[in-house]
Amino acid sequence: MDTQVHSSLRTVEWKDNSVVMIDQTKLPNELVYVKYTDYNDVADAIRNLVVRGAPAIGVSGAFGLALAALQSKATDKDDLIKDLEHAKKILFETRPTAINLAWGLERIMNLARLGTNASEIKSTIVNEAKIMAEEDIAINKRMGKNGSYLFDDNDTIMTHCNAGALATVAYGTALGVIRATKESGKKIKVIATETRPVMQGSRLTVFELKHDGIDVSLIPDTAVGYSMANGLVSKVIVGADRILSTGHVYNKIGTYQVALMAKQHGIPFYVAAPLSTFDMKSTPKDVVIEQRKSSEVTGVAGKKTAPDDINVINPAFDMTPPEFISGIITEAGVAEPPFDTSIKKLFESKL
Ligand code: MRU
Repeated sequence: MDTQVHSSLRTVEWKDNSVVMIDQTKLPNELVYVKYTDYNDVADAIRNLVVRGAPAIGVSGAFGLALAALQSKATDKDDLIKDLEHAKKILFETRPTAINLAWGLERIMNLARLGTNASEIKSTIVNEAKIMAEEDIAINKRMGKNGSYLFDDNDTIMTHCNAGALATVAYGTALGVIRATKESGKKIKVIATETRPVMQGSRLTVFELKHDGIDVSLIPDTAVGYSMANGLVSKVIVGADRILSTGHVYNKIGTYQVALMAKQHGIPFYVAAPLSTFDMKSTPKDVVIEQRKSSEVTGVAGKKTAPDDINVINPAFDMTPPEFISGIITEAGVAEPPFDTSIKKLFESKL
């Protein structure tokens, strides 16, 4: 068992022509790194939540295509593009809701299509995927700083799921804002929901905040209302898997309930996400909510907690409508309601 403690967790990395990632299914009991040289294994890793979180799967998809380029025997451009299109399809079909995966794959493919010959395209792709990983960290740090002004000394901040270092390359989106707030000298506490069914809150968020010495309390998902009604929560911050131009936010199942309850109790509800999480073209009817296997709900840690042959509904994400959201924090600034105009302005400021 590798129990090495890293001062700053690096979720996914390109090393010696291979992709190295933390196996998040083993956390918090073991900190194990896995190494892949085949893009099909990266696709399996995304599907099975070895790596998860929207920005992390965006970069992993790009690294998957970089492996596909190295695996390809093609010597001319057209054959290489065919191989890459095939790999892109396999990587894309792993998880449908987080837009970052499509964004990462498309960014690599656009570059590949511009290349002149196979060997040049192969090295350009590997290089671009490495740049994307570094950019992710820089973007999270900018986002963290932009969001830190919204939080006050002695705030207790609730978060849901894991939008931390483990959901990105490093530092995190929602947890990046929490880190930056702490780094700015403010005293803060965190309340993390356990996030059933696969426990990204208790297994991952609590693990990484404890690892960084940030005061965190774990609650069952069912204690969100209790915590808010009893004045334990000053503000809420979550990440996102997809944000529409209208401010509709898709995030881990349960986010909608947290937002609804925050509204009821007059608690500000913030979302932190990079611009690569925005889908400026779709409307809510276009977004596919991933449905995951029933065993995630009928058991806990390999132990059955429901009778055999029971019907299960297990959506991985839900949609929080814009009216429950106080602000959306990005690397380009903070969008405030009304979101259709403020989100457009953020994109214009990037041009
Ligand atoms: O199913 P997961 O673990 O990939 O879901 C992750 C989330 O919902 C995160 O909150 C989201 O991706 C934002 S990560 C910075």
